[in-house]
Amino acid sequence: MKTLAMNGINLAYTRGGNGVPLLLVHGFPLDSTSWNEVRPFLEDDFDVITPDLRGFGQSTTLETEYTVTDMADDLAGLLDHLGIKKVAIAGHSMGGYITLAFAKKYPERINAIGLISSQAASDSAERKEGRLKSAQEVAINGVSSMAQTMPEKLSANPRVQSLARDLISRQKNAGVVGALKAMAAREDYLSFLKGCHFPIVLIHGDADTLIPIDRSKEILAAADHARLLEIKGANHMPMMEFPEQTAKGIKLLK
Ligand code: MLT
Repeated sequence: MKTLAMNGINLAYTRGGNGVPLLLVHGFPLDSTSWNEVRPFLEDDFDVITPDLRGFGQSTTLETEYTVTDMADDLAGLLDHLGIKKVAIAGHSMGGYITLAFAKKYPERINAIGLISSQAASDSAERKEGRLKSAQEVAINGVSSMAQTMPEKLSANPRVQSLARDLISRQKNAGVVGALKAMAAREDYLSFLKGCHFPIVLIHGDADTLIPIDRSKEILAAADHARLLEIKGANHMPMMEFPEQTAKGIKLLK
């Protein structure tokens, strides 16, 4: 991986492939390796850039609080460094929230956006409270209990569960806490999407138990330029459960 120093952190990223630039933003509490299985299906069509968000993978972990917009600013800094003005950007779940924050702050840099197993709605009061409670638990006990309990919520596929378990246990406590707080504080992006002029591709498993496909259908109904690729049988990790189909959806961003 390469590393770039900016915004007070080191941001690690991988880049490969040929074609128009595509930024893939990973979900929670994962890192850029969550794209490993889908990436080979994309590199003939795109210049694929996969960063580790602040707090995850090989990027710097901060003890201070930050927002999804701060995380989006890191992506803008990375594109500046790479000399890329406009991009197709797709985010998985939490990566979708950061994609939306990026699109809202930097609309002039967007060719198209993809939201994979994600949503535009903000958290309910109950969900917010749950996140802050999880943040406290992780701060005290570490990510290990999350690494045990979360994989079965992400996928019914034992291979994907095991990959997710390894990925989650590699993450640092402070990064997981930082992301939980940032997600809890994020705004609602549905009205922003309603007025957007760029194409929006929604990719969602019909068996997603963490963020139901209805969240994508809500965007489809509200936004003029949205289309939905429904992946039958996928839960919350389509890029690992059905990488080829997920890549087919991402290619709609070209
Ligand atoms: C994710 O998969 O990124 C998170 O579970 C999203 C969320 O908790 O809202």
